[in-house]
Amino acid sequence: MKRKLLGALLSTAMVASLAVGCGGGNDAAPADAPAETEAPAETETPAEAETPAEDATADADDAAPAAGGKIGISMPTQSLERWNRDGAYLDEQFKAAGFETILTYSDDKTEQQVNDIQNMLADGVDMLVIAAIDGNALNTALEGAAEQNIPVISYDRLILNDAASYYVSFDNYTVGKLQGEYIVKALDLENAGDKTYNIEITAGDPADNNATYFYQGAIDAIQPYLDNGALNIVSGQKDFDAVATPGWKTDTALGRAQNVLSSYYADGTQLDAWLCSNDSTALGVTQAVTSDYAGSNTVVITGQDGDEANLKNIVDGTQTMTVYKNVSNESVVTLALAKAILAGESIDESLIPSFGIECAFDTESYETSAGNKCPSFLLVPNVITKDNLQDLVDTGLYTMGDDGYLSATN
Ligand code: BGC
Repeated sequence: MKRKLLGALLSTAMVASLAVGCGGGNDAAPADAPAETEAPAETETPAEAETPAEDATADADDAAPAAGGKIGISMPTQSLERWNRDGAYLDEQFKAAGFETILTYSDDKTEQQVNDIQNMLADGVDMLVIAAIDGNALNTALEGAAEQNIPVISYDRLILNDAASYYVSFDNYTVGKLQGEYIVKALDLENAGDKTYNIEITAGDPADNNATYFYQGAIDAIQPYLDNGALNIVSGQKDFDAVATPGWKTDTALGRAQNVLSSYYADGTQLDAWLCSNDSTALGVTQAVTSDYAGSNTVVITGQDGDEANLKNIVDGTQTMTVYKNVSNESVVTLALAKAILAGESIDESLIPSFGIECAFDTESYETSAGNKCPSFLLVPNVITKDNLQDLVDTGLYTMGDDGYLSATN
């Protein structure tokens, strides 16, 4: 098919797809959008994602014959380990499926991300895949996308502007719930009797919409034990704002943990658990506990992501668990969704079997600032401890060295 005709079909298809996106689509379609909203009867772009869950890399041979089009991939920062993986997988997957890509990292600076996205639009991208630094700060850039009728996939973190079309992430509430439930089990709180265990909490970045989902999932899991006295937050710092970590920064988490330890635990009070929302914050907390905690008991510390340094700490016993999210699978789902949007298919749970990856289609849990529900594909997170590190090796995305430490393969 000639590129021009494909382009016209894509543009029509985008209008059809956007019509059911996060904001209901009305804001997203430009005033001069083509009137027809019917999906093309036939395109050369097979929408099925044939990549199986275990095989993270789209096979170039199976790839759609040049789906055509340029995809702008905007990642927040290279300073947090996972986004390097996300960027690399997305770039690799889209290229293998015949797309051109532009991949940027915005150094955790919102203005830079707005700039990067505007440059992508000026460069003629057909679709944007964005992991927002601040879910509230992309309005200017996304208005530009809406004017040009460019679909936007909110990747991992929800963009709160209605110009975003769909959301691909993990079940973020469940991530937090798994962390909280892990602590409940590890301390055997159901059988605590008269005993009280002491806990502290470190949450994520207030600008990241995910952070409150992680926090709430975890709090809901431990709340019954705070209520019945089996758990006690010695510092009294429980509210999200009191325990949040701007930018998810390890140093910030370290600094606050040191303060808490010197203010509330220097007298020999025993610390039993520290609920951390992710691995970058767990790294700081673990460092503080290792160097500044006077007690000799093992402190249960949670995390999320499977960053290499944290997996090493899990092997060494200084971090207890992490909630692993296979971001290679997240990119497979994103590619399949992108293809479906560009092919003008209806976007709903009927797409899931073609992903080859377990996930849910959720139209209730995520809302934009304007209160519109954002249709979301949510993948399933897993608990990783010292006992099932082999599960990570089995994904093919990590190798285990002779020393028992894991290294990521990308
Ligand atoms: C991601 C987490 C990550 C955190 C910091 C969140 O939005 O979902 O996986 O740990 O950002 O990068």
